[in-house]
Amino acid sequence: MAPYIGTATSRVDGRAKVTGEAKYAGEFKAPDLAYGFVIESTVPKGRITHIDAGEALRVEGVIDVLTHKNRPRMAGTDKAWKDDVAPEEGSPFRPLYGDSIKFSGQPIALVLAEEWEIARYAASLVRIEYEEQAFVTDLYQQRDQAFAVAKPDKPHGDAGRAFMAAAVRHEAEYFIPTEHHNPMELFASTAIWDGDGKLTVYDKTQGVQNVQRYLCSVFEKKPDEVRVMSPFVGGAFGLGLRPQYQVVLAMLGALALQRSVRLVLTRGQMYGLGHRPATIERLALGAKADGTLDSVSHEAIAVTSQFEEFSRNDTGWAALLYKSANAKYVHRLARLDVPTSCDMRAPGAATGVYALESAMDELAVALKLDPIELRLRCYSDRDQNEDVPYTSKQLRECYRQGAETFGWGKRNPEPRSMRDGSELVGWGMASGVWEALQMPAAARIVLTANGHAEVFCAASDIGTGTYTILAQVAADALGLPIENINVKLGDSTLPQAPVEGGSWMAASASHAVVATADEVRKELLTLASTIKGSPLGKTSLEDTTLVGGQIVSKRDTSLAISIADVMRHGAIDRIEKEKTNSFPEDSEHARNTHSAVFAEVKVDEQLGVIRVTRIVNAVAAGRILNAKTAHSQVMGGVVWGIGMALHEETLFDHRFGRVMNANIAEYHVPVNADVHEITVIFVDEPDKIINPMGIKGLGEIGIVGVAAAIANAVYHATGKRVRDLPITLDKLHRSA
Ligand code: MOS
Repeated sequence: MAPYIGTATSRVDGRAKVTGEAKYAGEFKAPDLAYGFVIESTVPKGRITHIDAGEALRVEGVIDVLTHKNRPRMAGTDKAWKDDVAPEEGSPFRPLYGDSIKFSGQPIALVLAEEWEIARYAASLVRIEYEEQAFVTDLYQQRDQAFAVAKPDKPHGDAGRAFMAAAVRHEAEYFIPTEHHNPMELFASTAIWDGDGKLTVYDKTQGVQNVQRYLCSVFEKKPDEVRVMSPFVGGAFGLGLRPQYQVVLAMLGALALQRSVRLVLTRGQMYGLGHRPATIERLALGAKADGTLDSVSHEAIAVTSQFEEFSRNDTGWAALLYKSANAKYVHRLARLDVPTSCDMRAPGAATGVYALESAMDELAVALKLDPIELRLRCYSDRDQNEDVPYTSKQLRECYRQGAETFGWGKRNPEPRSMRDGSELVGWGMASGVWEALQMPAAARIVLTANGHAEVFCAASDIGTGTYTILAQVAADALGLPIENINVKLGDSTLPQAPVEGGSWMAASASHAVVATADEVRKELLTLASTIKGSPLGKTSLEDTTLVGGQIVSKRDTSLAISIADVMRHGAIDRIEKEKTNSFPEDSEHARNTHSAVFAEVKVDEQLGVIRVTRIVNAVAAGRILNAKTAHSQVMGGVVWGIGMALHEETLFDHRFGRVMNANIAEYHVPVNADVHEITVIFVDEPDKIINPMGIKGLGEIGIVGVAAAIANAVYHATGKRVRDLPITLDKLHRSA
């Protein structure tokens, strides 16, 4: 019985969100609230030689200006600054720690005032002098200095030799520019001074416990002195995985003033945070005359900072998708004078698969093969990195159902062959692949005699729908109406949860809730069995289930006792249990989600304006917990893929080492006018191996492959191949 799991249940927090009742990190109040404003470095590298805050301090309402000279104490070791998901190599950034400048946009002073406007105005009066040093912010200038990092992808065969011997070859370089995070909610923290050195910190984060441990470590606090909360998050997409500097500065300010401090970054200041690294991707594909792959080489050169080595897996996705006897993967990092790059939705795959699937399209053209046919000929039922089968892989069905829904059969393969009035029409497709991970997580359930339950977990719902799916899972596991379930998330004092990322939270937290509900049922049965003449006296735990507010025998549903009766007999009014999920070790299978993306573009032949008129994304992601929130996740990923293909690009002026378009007027993201028809298909994918509920997660798969499908459609429409993103009309004309 699963009346809720799988249904299109509306968000349980939807009402709170649309009425404004849901509070975000920058909205919490305290009677003594002070406001911070950050002053950023205007040079990318060097040293601060002088800070003159005199004039700022004379402004009425200014309380203090904190700099590296006068701030409260912070820890002095790299280890103390390493959060749970920091890169292994390097020294994490420490805001306001010393006089050294590592990137343009680095916070170098914090103005604290009675009002935000006063703090902002006073910030404009602080005079800063620098000793500037030579810097580099251009990846192409540093590519020859890039160094290789160890990656899990295993080479096999001799890719170089096989490439030279291949009947048909394709070799090209693709480029993905720096992209910055632009979630609706600005990065913000409110540090509430609870007195006696204790603080409650409301933070925009994907992991309250990660931030809590980090703040305790940086400020040398005991665990019970800092509580971190993020009940609601207005989108985060990877930038909230690591603690960002505003949470350090909000707490620093609160410690300095011994009062509450709110710090909200401006949109422009968020361009001084992490970003999707600019990446050069080199692909070399060799095929036999029969149209099967024989050689894959994938090299990525990605940006990291001078002080940390951030990298994700760009290469090696081919080994999950396609058979090839020979393959080689290299990942290099180029150091630039910029902040450390970071995760952004499907990190590594969004970029690497864009390049791979563009290259596969080019190979299909060279082979004169339909692009789906090429992918089917190379289809791999095994992960060739580890040489293991998948827990499930319904990618063939994704191709089939996606193609059918899209109408792919009506495609004329010839470029520039399809038209709609003055517009060229192009149809392109690509595969997508992502990981299906699961992590340790715990949940606490408090069930009361009136048939209501509260579910607690530290996990943050970053907009994905965690509140809703956990309410559904708990309602089904406890046999209660969903209205009787209250889910509490985003509080570091709650049962342990990993950061919400990597698409692993749905599987991780759902299994924690089910494991805990099992404990609740066990307690109910124990109590029920002690009742004289109990109908469940001889029933084993495995033979019971919770349905309709009762504990019921699965063999004979007439054998049942209500939760209320059980508790009354046990003289209790609540049962409280906490349990951590557990997943069996399994190194015998690969765990992945897959997709097939189909795109239609219409290109104005004179102007080169590209419209993405249709996208069909067919996704195989195991069991879908909520048809509505799942659809929204994939749709959001598709929209971002449109942005990646056509709009998003952080532009640097390399002469000054600065971002030129640090705002959402000039940094383009897709708007309503850019988004037309999006069809999301969930291919049925039962998976009994991956975990008991068959959940794979789908926060990230929705973006993977979208940019490639669009780029391939643009080629089909125009006959022009633009290999550096975003595909803007000037590039379309230039590559004529
Ligand atoms: Mo996701 S990039 O793991 O928030």
